[in-house]
Amino acid sequence: MKYDLTNRTVALTGAAGGLGQDLAKALRARGARVALLDLNADVVGDLADSLGDESVARGWKADVRDLDNLTEVMDEVAAHFEGLDVVVAGAGTGGPIGPMAGTALGDWERTIDINLNGVWRTFKAALPHVAFQRGHLLAVASMASFVHSPLHSPYSASKAGVLGMCNSLRPELRQFGVTVGSAHPSFFRSLMVDEVLDNPVARNVWNDFDGLFKLVPREAVVEAIVAGIERRADQIVVPRLSTPTAKLSGLFRPLVERFVFQDSRIMQAISHFVTSIGLDDSDLSPEESLAALHTRDRDATHGA
Ligand SMILES: NC(=O)c1ccc[n+]([C@@H]2O[C@H](COP(=O)([O-])OP(=O)(O)OC[C@H]3O[C@@H](n4cnc5c(N)ncnc54)[C@H](O)[C@@H]3O)[C@@H](O)[C@H]2O)c1
Repeated sequence: MKYDLTNRTVALTGAAGGLGQDLAKALRARGARVALLDLNADVVGDLADSLGDESVARGWKADVRDLDNLTEVMDEVAAHFEGLDVVVAGAGTGGPIGPMAGTALGDWERTIDINLNGVWRTFKAALPHVAFQRGHLLAVASMASFVHSPLHSPYSASKAGVLGMCNSLRPELRQFGVTVGSAHPSFFRSLMVDEVLDNPVARNVWNDFDGLFKLVPREAVVEAIVAGIERRADQIVVPRLSTPTAKLSGLFRPLVERFVFQDSRIMQAISHFVTSIGLDDSDLSPEESLAALHTRDRDATHGA
């Protein structure tokens, strides 16, 4: 049976972002009341104003890296709208793109903390209210939950972690009438992606954003997510053509690793990366390049 969104309250994190703003508008158009949460208070405030008065849309400054802050905000949202039915954990970061050898621990930790721990905190803070309404929790993950790109391990790990967490919570929470879903879009235009479209390392890894990595229109992602909430779907894959890749990811993995992420493209990407941080790899063997990246990262970490 369709889960009618009319007069339901939906809280979204990352509501100032490309996807978040469009989702907020689409949910409002379905008659939902929307609580817009983001680090960027000005953007969510203006967006809320454009969507109606405070009885149907309101912005809150919220940080998914801070559980106390999120708990306070979720309590306020539930008090303001007299209940909270659905939470969409959409805040995220692309994280660093480059080899592990040149990635600082802090960049890894920050990506995991926003993309994975941030979803956990969002659900944890909202759960008492959502459980009361027998509502729905949705995490915006990614196709990266299933297809794990080289030179992007923090993001892959964070989004695979979100998938695992949602799969674990689903049977745990269904006892209480709460449903749990995860959304897995492929690339679409937003601040996060616009920043990397011209990055040669990214273009090498993701096949010039073609084939499996072709951008999907953001409207398609928004429509699929809203329809997925209305079905209280377990998993939402966009585009739908990628569903077999997602569902059979374990079987496809060796093929993807061999034929999609070709060695020549990855080595070219690493070479771009080495050059972009001011090292000349023309005289270096691959091992020496890796060692140079490690040394540079260690020196940066220790302030050398
Ligand atoms: N754009 C894509 O191609 C793509 C593909 C798959 C999944 N996703 C996921 O979709 C979600 C939305 O991303 P987007 O593409 O709209 O990016 P975006 O950069 O436009 O939006 C991300 C939003 O998250 C907010 N945010 C970041 N850290 C936060 C924090 N600590 N607390 C609260 N808010 C915080 C930012 O302020 C921003 O408004 C992310 O989870 C992203 O990983 C994006």
